[in-house]
Amino acid sequence: MHLPASFALVPGLRLSASSPSTNAELADLAREQGLPDFTVLVTDDQTAGRGRLDRTWIAPPGSALAVSVLLVPASDAGPLPLERFGWLPVAAGVAMIEALSAVLPAASLGFKWPNDVLAGGRKVCGVLAELIPGRGAVVVGAGVNLAMTREQLPVASATSVAIEGGRADPDTVLAGYLEWLRGLVARYLEAGGDAEASGLAQRARALCATLGREVRVELPGGTVIEGTATALDADARLLVRSEDGVEHAVAAGDVTHARLAG
Ligand code: BTN
Repeated sequence: MHLPASFALVPGLRLSASSPSTNAELADLAREQGLPDFTVLVTDDQTAGRGRLDRTWIAPPGSALAVSVLLVPASDAGPLPLERFGWLPVAAGVAMIEALSAVLPAASLGFKWPNDVLAGGRKVCGVLAELIPGRGAVVVGAGVNLAMTREQLPVASATSVAIEGGRADPDTVLAGYLEWLRGLVARYLEAGGDAEASGLAQRARALCATLGREVRVELPGGTVIEGTATALDADARLLVRSEDGVEHAVAAGDVTHARLAG
């Protein structure tokens, strides 16, 4: 892969010809070597990618970008408290949407909470954040379907930049993503981990295709909540109001959007 703009932004970027999982590899390196904040590992051939909720993440070599970023979030006030980490994967989804708007119509882009990036209503990018316990660090991984053809799609609900008619240029997407992610996280930290004050919450709300929708949420334990997604709270949790009027704050889960009528 030729990534001049990405290397200009992050000179220490680690480009790998192949990696089992950029998240796993970067987390191992961080544990063994204590890597600095914003270390980036990228490949277009990920052979054993990890998805959310213990799923796999599959893409044929050369068809998708797998990028992991180590975040060790801290400001003058000290390390970011763990309970404020929830906004970091949301920031990754927002950053990817901003980056993809260089190659796809911005109006076609949004995200399904917590951070499935959608193009034309189908998933074009998934984000998986994995904490490194005891280090105050998190690896934020994003997999973006770039040149993938319809035949190569892992599931019918997925899409790619190429299928949506966009320019599947890895450097444009990667450089945009890294620039946006770095900026959003820096502003979030400057604001002391206050997503409202940093502007992150407003941008996330504007791009969140889940808000206002009828949703079905399967929680990690298997419990299902059905209702209307009403808001993102101060910790980036999704608030879902069920028919009995109870508001549920969801920190993790698998969300399905009900089909819109018409
Ligand atoms: C999802 O299930 O939607 C999340 C998918 C996350 C995939 C990315 S690709 C780069 C990074 N490395 C991994 O093993 N997974 C993430």
